[in-house]
Amino acid sequence: MRGIGPSPWKRLARRCRAVGLGACWLLAGLAGAAPAPMLVRFSHVVAPDTPKGLMVERFQALVAQRSGGRIRVAVYPDSQLYGDQDEIEALQLGAVEMLAPSLSKFSAMGVGGFEVFDLPFLFQDLGQVRCVTRGAIGRQLLEDLSRHRMVGLGFLDNGFKQMSAAKPLREPGDFKGLRLRIQASRVVAAQMRALGAHPVVLPFGETQRALASGVVDGTENPLSNFLSQGLAPVQAAVTLTDHGYLGYAVVANPRFWAHLAAPDRLLLQQALAEALEHGNRQSADLNAQALAALRQMPQVRVHALTPPQRDALRQAMQPVYADFQRRNGAPLLRRIQDECAP
Ligand code: LMR
Repeated sequence: MRGIGPSPWKRLARRCRAVGLGACWLLAGLAGAAPAPMLVRFSHVVAPDTPKGLMVERFQALVAQRSGGRIRVAVYPDSQLYGDQDEIEALQLGAVEMLAPSLSKFSAMGVGGFEVFDLPFLFQDLGQVRCVTRGAIGRQLLEDLSRHRMVGLGFLDNGFKQMSAAKPLREPGDFKGLRLRIQASRVVAAQMRALGAHPVVLPFGETQRALASGVVDGTENPLSNFLSQGLAPVQAAVTLTDHGYLGYAVVANPRFWAHLAAPDRLLLQQALAEALEHGNRQSADLNAQALAALRQMPQVRVHALTPPQRDALRQAMQPVYADFQRRNGAPLLRRIQDECAP
């Protein structure tokens, strides 16, 4: 661990881990030495220059500054430590303390309400999403996570998803027969099937390789993810469909969270709230910058939709709603439409 010299420090760190943090401070006081910093491991799957990456870096900096270095957030980006197929399990087992998985990942593990965020063409803009995530519905969804050995701490936007492939995907017929990489989400899988495509669930970190080798033909994601994962060299056409939302929930391991001293928990909560604001302020700009960068790249063409083309995609995806309501009932969707109309 950074800042710990050879043997006496190592011995102290070992004792701290064995006896817990409170006793650790006591030992340190008795020994006249500063204890090892408390380590908060924050793992995620995207690049640092994305809304999630920037949010986590801000959180790390705020925590270091406000704790005077007493609490250290160690950030593991780009699926370095865990990929999206195993990061939630790692959190539940205590192998990491914090994560920010995409909302689809919670629906895949059975927290049904989160599926709503994957519904195609439900949200018109980020204002409508924030009405949901910052209100009673969002609070309830975060609370629901406690039944799955997670503490839900807040929401972060990435933005709206665009489609990519070797050719433009403007109309339902363009999707027919394509193998499209998706996150594990029943709603997104149903959406691709409704378009006549074959959904293929793959970890985010394997998407670039799968596209390059022809295992899949195309994918969907906001442009900041598309660009920072190096998908531009392997996808010749990006179609600006804005067909669905992609966001995240920050979660903590419940044991870690419950054992924090109250002032430390407050420090982390406040730093996170500011970091989430920071990330949310950046998300739209980052996606706009990614679009501008893609327009400059000779190997990629960016295609827009006409209003009738967008409408035809929306119509083709409608069966997904009936499917969603069969699993989750109608009330959640009705509440969103009533309380958070565009
Ligand atoms: C994905 O497609 O799996 C991503 O959107 C993951 C992420 O965390 O942004």
